[in-house]
Amino acid sequence: MGLEVTPSGQACGATVRGVDLTKPLSAQEVSDIRAAWLTHHVLVFPDQTMTDDDLERFSLSFGPFGDDPFIAPIAGREHIIAVKREAGEKGPVFAEAWHTDWSFQKVPPAGTCLCAVTIPPQGGDTLFVDQHLALQKMPAALRKKLEGKRAVHSAAGAYAPDGFYGTEDSTTRSMDIRPSNEATATQTHLIVRPHPETGELGLFGCVGYIVGIEGLHTAEAQKLLGEMYQWQTREEFQFRHTWQENMMVMWDNRSVLHMATGGYEGYDRELHRTTIADKAA
Ligand code: SIN
Repeated sequence: MGLEVTPSGQACGATVRGVDLTKPLSAQEVSDIRAAWLTHHVLVFPDQTMTDDDLERFSLSFGPFGDDPFIAPIAGREHIIAVKREAGEKGPVFAEAWHTDWSFQKVPPAGTCLCAVTIPPQGGDTLFVDQHLALQKMPAALRKKLEGKRAVHSAAGAYAPDGFYGTEDSTTRSMDIRPSNEATATQTHLIVRPHPETGELGLFGCVGYIVGIEGLHTAEAQKLLGEMYQWQTREEFQFRHTWQENMMVMWDNRSVLHMATGGYEGYDRELHRTTIADKAA
């Protein structure tokens, strides 16, 4: 049986059946999944009873592991982190803000795989927003202001000791977050950027990890980033993913922003995550 790819009917995203991710993939399956991933940007694999070994093997079929800073890996694994929240936790939900993973790195990861471990009976959806579509539909005047500009990315607001997930926050969370002064480093990336594999233009990143725009004063940059954010996160460009047990999702960080959502107070939620490195430009 070949791969069955069913588009979500929303701005991006598709469900993939007809493949068993508990077994090594054939070269044809890897090539078909990669093609679907580049087309739909987010792939949902239901009914997969994957172990951590399966998750690692699947990720490695699409490239080497990326580097995951500021979050300690789970015991016994170098490249799997747990995105988790216990029933009694009171602090803000982890990653409940639009972002693309680790965009402050020199070569940010191509993809992320997130595999269900414990799924609450309600809430905890993950949202995605298609940054190729957002650019395609963007008013020409706004696009003109962004083209050719380089954004300054930094993890400081999140993972520096005084950041959102800083020293104070990390004592209240079940996730093993390790804030560090290394989060204050910066990198620049084009805002309107060709996708490294397909060449398709898209918006890369958003305010949050983006802290400025090269050549613009802070106030001017913040105004433009705010205008861009209002546009690039519009509902018409979104895909809402609802989790079930035995589900794995793989997304393309070069094509979408994503964010976690809450709504599962009183229940545990846990997913295991790997990142897939991109090729250096
Ligand atoms: C993440 O940003 O990796 C977490 C997404 C989620 O918890 O839904």
